[in-house]
Amino acid sequence: MAAAEEHTADEHTTDEQTAEEEPVKQRKNGLYPGVSDELAENMRTGWADTERTDLSPVPQAGRTAARRAALSERFPGERLVVPAGNLKVRSNDTDYPFRASVEYAWLTGNQTEDGVLVMEPKAGGGHDAALYLLPRSDRDNGEFWLGGQGELWVGRRNSLTESERLYGLPCKDVRKVAEELREATGPVRVVRGHDAAVEAALTDKVTRERDDELRTYLSEARLVKDDFEVGELQKAVDSTVRGFEDVVKVLDRAEATSERYIEGTFFLRARVEGNDVGYGSICASGPHATTLHWVRNDGPVRSGDLLLLDAGVETHTYYTADVTRTLPVDGRFSDLQRKIYDAVYEAQEAGIAAVKPGAKYLDFHEAAQRVLATRLVEWGLLEGPVEKVLELGLQRRWTLHGTGHMLGMDVHDCAAARREAYAEGTLEPGMCLTVEPGLYFQPDDLTVPEEYRGIGVRIEDDLLVTEDGNRNLSAALPRTSGDVEEWMARLKS
Ligand code: GLY
Ligand code: MN
Ligand code: MN
Repeated sequence: MAAAEEHTADEHTTDEQTAEEEPVKQRKNGLYPGVSDELAENMRTGWADTERTDLSPVPQAGRTAARRAALSERFPGERLVVPAGNLKVRSNDTDYPFRASVEYAWLTGNQTEDGVLVMEPKAGGGHDAALYLLPRSDRDNGEFWLGGQGELWVGRRNSLTESERLYGLPCKDVRKVAEELREATGPVRVVRGHDAAVEAALTDKVTRERDDELRTYLSEARLVKDDFEVGELQKAVDSTVRGFEDVVKVLDRAEATSERYIEGTFFLRARVEGNDVGYGSICASGPHATTLHWVRNDGPVRSGDLLLLDAGVETHTYYTADVTRTLPVDGRFSDLQRKIYDAVYEAQEAGIAAVKPGAKYLDFHEAAQRVLATRLVEWGLLEGPVEKVLELGLQRRWTLHGTGHMLGMDVHDCAAARREAYAEGTLEPGMCLTVEPGLYFQPDDLTVPEEYRGIGVRIEDDLLVTEDGNRNLSAALPRTSGDVEEWMARLKS
């Protein structure tokens, strides 16, 4: 991208050169060198007032207030600091696309870089929450067109008053937050890992142990989704279904190019309908399907092979789907591919049946593993009995991973929850999780017959635990081998 003339020239001029060439102007107007007083004055004025007074709160504003109230109750009398995080440099002067920390976005509904939520304890109990954000650029000092974060470069920001309307929180200038935190007294906790400057301001006031308790609370509080969140997850899944259909329609183009064509096709859907993909799409064709997190996506797509596509659209509110289908590139499973696929389907069915309120979290994993172990014994790849195989975990050479995980604003959501609240916990209505068994025969696995080698199958759906069982949010995508073939034939014709 080309910068404005003066700006570019200035960036490439050393201080020494500048001092020689334009010492007077630099001193006189206090702006960047190369800006005449006349131009500086000209740029100060002639701009319309664009303040918006017609803004309504973001749709999740009521939920974020309730979440903050629960947080306040859990940590009475303590100052709580939740940063959004900062831009991260990709290279030189370009940054990665920004994504706010989940904790911050979940508590505020805001997604702005450098933002900080501070919950300040009140004398009589409860907290006053405030959102610290960068205000609109100052026109008087020229920062709006000369500074790196100037709105002329990065786009108009909401004013602090506009943000107050949108997020239902008092908003303050974030440039003061570090100083305020440094001067604050009393107990304080911060969500670590997002904003080094905020942490530095608190360094002698916080401990790792107490900060971890805050992080754990914010992970566990997200285990049960409210109906707004479930609606967002359904939107993410619906877009993902359309993304999978897009991919099937262009499989011939992928065959002519590479797995990248599939990645790009799905990404287009994610960016047009949502915020992004929720994680790097796994577009794994042929033997790549046996690599669990194959995201290089630079291999060939060949007729006769299977394509394992694991991808999810993330909504504008950051909720992501996480769906996998394993598809025969030419639209028909071979006999062996079908045999393996059907076993994984059967395992998934057993897993899905175990997802209900009151069940132990691990029940669905164990149900799916039992099916897969049974088939592996039946095929002669493992020596029975099945109970012994399960006891020793021998099926894991080919099942490799856990059968699912919580899903939400992170693809592997609620990861800081304690074991007793998650892996060793009990399913409750409102929890959302994936069920995703798989079988993977590595291309170099000498313990299986040659024809198995290089075949990988996973089927992954997104489930909501309901009052009486579960709802498959991704049921719009076919799952049985026959339905997959029919669906592909329909889309390709
Ligand atoms: N896409 C990563 C997973 O399925 O967990
Ligand atoms: Mn997945
Ligand atoms: Mn998953």
